[in-house]
Amino acid sequence: MNPDQILILSGPNLDQLGVRDVAVYGATTLDEHVERLVARAAELGVVVVHRQSNFEGDLIEAVHDARGRYAGLIINAGALTHTSWALSDALDVFPGPKVEVHLSNPAGREPFRHVSTLARVVDGSVAGFGGLSYDLALDAVVRLLRSSRLPPGAA
Ligand code: DQA
Repeated sequence: MNPDQILILSGPNLDQLGVRDVAVYGATTLDEHVERLVARAAELGVVVVHRQSNFEGDLIEAVHDARGRYAGLIINAGALTHTSWALSDALDVFPGPKVEVHLSNPAGREPFRHVSTLARVVDGSVAGFGGLSYDLALDAVVRLLRSSRLPPGAA
């Protein structure tokens, strides 16, 4: 396992960023977000690897494969966030720090987006800051890795 390697997982329809509901998700493409995160990771002294899939089973297998390979995990599961207990169970097995990310703020949107199946198994979530949500999530995972675990309430 590489202690400095972090997996970023993107779920369904995130490959459509840049054309999809730009008023909600912004005009930045997924590739552009990843490019920025790769650069930010280098500044932080870690490496990020990104995978996107529109298929629930692929994402579940990616989480399985991450065990023993990646120290931490960041996931934007798209709409699977609100439906997939299978993905939630898979994430539960991953032992490292894991952070849920959303570009938008699902809690302020339609009621079906208010439920996150992932919330019970992640260390925390960052939502509503557009691309900055990813940057903040990366910072959080790196800090969790470096401090093993921050005590509740610590900055
Ligand atoms: C999203 C929010 C989800 O509700 C939605 O289905 C997405 C994107 C976000 O990043 O804001 O696909 O995860």
